[in-house]
Amino acid sequence: MRHEIDSILIPRDRIGARVAELGSAITEDLDGVDATQIVLVAVMTGSIIFVADLMRHLPMKIRIQLVTARSYIGAATVSGGDPEIGPLPEDLAGKHVLLVDDILDSGRTLTAIRECIEELSPQSIRACVLLRKRLESAMAVPCEYVGFEIDDEFVVGYGLDHDGYFRNLPDIAVARA
Ligand code: IMP
Ligand code: MG
Repeated sequence: MRHEIDSILIPRDRIGARVAELGSAITEDLDGVDATQIVLVAVMTGSIIFVADLMRHLPMKIRIQLVTARSYIGAATVSGGDPEIGPLPEDLAGKHVLLVDDILDSGRTLTAIRECIEELSPQSIRACVLLRKRLESAMAVPCEYVGFEIDDEFVVGYGLDHDGYFRNLPDIAVARA
């Protein structure tokens, strides 16, 4: 099945404004926390652009680390079951972890990564996603910061892909089957 762009759902200026708001909210909430104890863990590859923009709205001196997750197989547009999680940073004990991902869909990815991080005994975990689909499964996952709620449609752009394509689109668009 070949997907193409249907319509722009969230244009780049709205994304930019919302990412700035998320950055301010996170900065305010972490005020008073020893910044050297904060680790931002970004879930690749979908959050590649989101985290690059978001981190520039976080003025404190924090460590940025990446973790990889894969749940879609090839050109599928439905999550393929349990996500494959790559190696996590090992030194998260006692740290304040800010987990950043692109989208909450089935919620399996964020749930799985959160569980792995919890095993490393951090002091706190907060999660931030750019998009959350209006699905019971997505709403059920604890997530402290949500950029936009969207309908249950397959979206691409601003880091989100279909079969590796469209990540470089500056806006978020609905993909048409
Ligand atoms: P989950 O179903 O919540 O585990 O989401 C898994 C991952 O699938 C997300 O982190 C995204 O990378 C990807 N994903 C989910 N929905 C979409 C979509 O609409 N477009 C592109 N990628 C998506
Ligand atoms: Mg992802």
